[in-house]
Amino acid sequence: MKIAFAKPELPESGSLAVAVMDGRKLGLHAAQVEKLTKGAVNRAIAASRFKGGAEDQLALLAPAGVSAQSVLLFGLGQAAKLDALTAQAVGGRLAAAFNAAGEKEATVLLEAIPDGSLSEAELAANLAYGALLRSYRFDKYKTKEKPEQKPSLKRLTIGVSETGAAKKAFDPLEKIAEGIRLTRDLVSEPANIIYPETLAAEAKTLEELDVDVKILGVNEMKKLGMGALLGVAQGSAREARLVVMRWQGADDAKARPIAFIGKGVTFDTGGISIKPAAGMEDMKWDMAGSGVVIGLMKALAGRKAKVNAVGVVGLVENMPSGTAQRPGDIVTSMSGQTIEVLNTDAEGRLVLADALWYAQENYKPIAMVDLATLTGAIMIALGTHHAGLFSNDDTLPDRLLAAGKETGELLWRMPLAPAYDKLIDSPAADMKNIGGRYGGSITAAQFLQRFVQKGVPWAHLDIAGMAWSEKDAPTVPKGATAFGVRLLDRLVAANYEDK
Ligand code: BES
Ligand code: MN
Ligand code: ZN
Repeated sequence: MKIAFAKPELPESGSLAVAVMDGRKLGLHAAQVEKLTKGAVNRAIAASRFKGGAEDQLALLAPAGVSAQSVLLFGLGQAAKLDALTAQAVGGRLAAAFNAAGEKEATVLLEAIPDGSLSEAELAANLAYGALLRSYRFDKYKTKEKPEQKPSLKRLTIGVSETGAAKKAFDPLEKIAEGIRLTRDLVSEPANIIYPETLAAEAKTLEELDVDVKILGVNEMKKLGMGALLGVAQGSAREARLVVMRWQGADDAKARPIAFIGKGVTFDTGGISIKPAAGMEDMKWDMAGSGVVIGLMKALAGRKAKVNAVGVVGLVENMPSGTAQRPGDIVTSMSGQTIEVLNTDAEGRLVLADALWYAQENYKPIAMVDLATLTGAIMIALGTHHAGLFSNDDTLPDRLLAAGKETGELLWRMPLAPAYDKLIDSPAADMKNIGGRYGGSITAAQFLQRFVQKGVPWAHLDIAGMAWSEKDAPTVPKGATAFGVRLLDRLVAANYEDK
């Protein structure tokens, strides 16, 4: 789907969408259509439940007096409540409506909203961004779909008086959307296509955007002593990889970077502690943390963020086999700490232990955020509306919580405490990789914290409930959500970029 910004003019064909404010108050362009159609707009509104709320839409088919084939009235709600997120949601719902109606071309006419917090250009840019995000669909393996079963919308024109300002506001948003698209693609791919080697190759394509990408193979990781990560990988025919992506966008090339670490288990069978068959296919998205880090690096580099950032992803496949690690095995991590692996299905923390340590040893980050589909327990605790946030700091989580509210990618802070940490002490090694039955997400986070060096502000996001969605949301079609890209892009923009 292509997006264009142009002066607001009535289109010769396609669908036309015009805005109505809360209380059925026609906007400038809606009023113009009302005149041209000799009152069809207000008659239709009077005959419906349409109130002009930000979720409302009302279609007029083939009205006399305009050349557009249909006129879609869309609500913008109350001017005072019209923020960037609302504009994005409106844009997403418009894209969904155009596709549902089979429209190929559509024009949305906008105008400045008095008393609104967004300028006309910001309104246009955010509406376009939402439409773009909603238009994603992973259908490359559907070879028999007829054209009429595919999304129809090819071109969306946003009519706005300040076209230059709108384009300028849209440019960075489009780059973020490109990062999100990459993440969604990577997470949607099945595990026979995306495995450590191929996922590393996908990350390597970021070199086109001047991201420095380094791929470590098994021998290099062995030399570094990454026994925790390699222990998980040893049961698979697919070799492990560790990928380091560096974006150097700060004025000072030596400025310490912010680091993002991702769990990249390209398929999680559970290993010898094997998972039940039902639903195991979901474990193709157990690499979502790494997919988000890769997409985030693409977004930051794409919009040339003035920050130094490093992304580290640990890529493994967790399989049962004759070479797989056994429950009870003791492995030595890169940090030197030993781990008794009591459950081979608690593998994400083992991968992250070495990835976290590697990032700190090599890049001395000013802050470090990891993302992982780490525990089923976080889904029990928070459901599918907040990711779990754990941190050893207070500034970093406050920044993350704020970025979450601004982007709609919500977080909920969970506790860490010595009493939980004790639960992963092992009689045989420095620690074990599972706690007891209770507080499973917290003991997982405590495990990670044992690999965080003194003085490093660190946050862990458990995104198990957020990486995949079973139903459409205004700007997130069902499937891979890329939860975390928008959030962390905002975290960087608001706190870590040169002014
Ligand atoms: N990848 C899973 C967590 C998961 C489960 C993510 C369901 C998304 C949906 C993780 O590796 C795992 O298996 N965790 C175990 C830990 C347990 C063995 C301590 C879990 O949550 O059951
Ligand atoms: Mn597992
Ligand atoms: Zn897992």
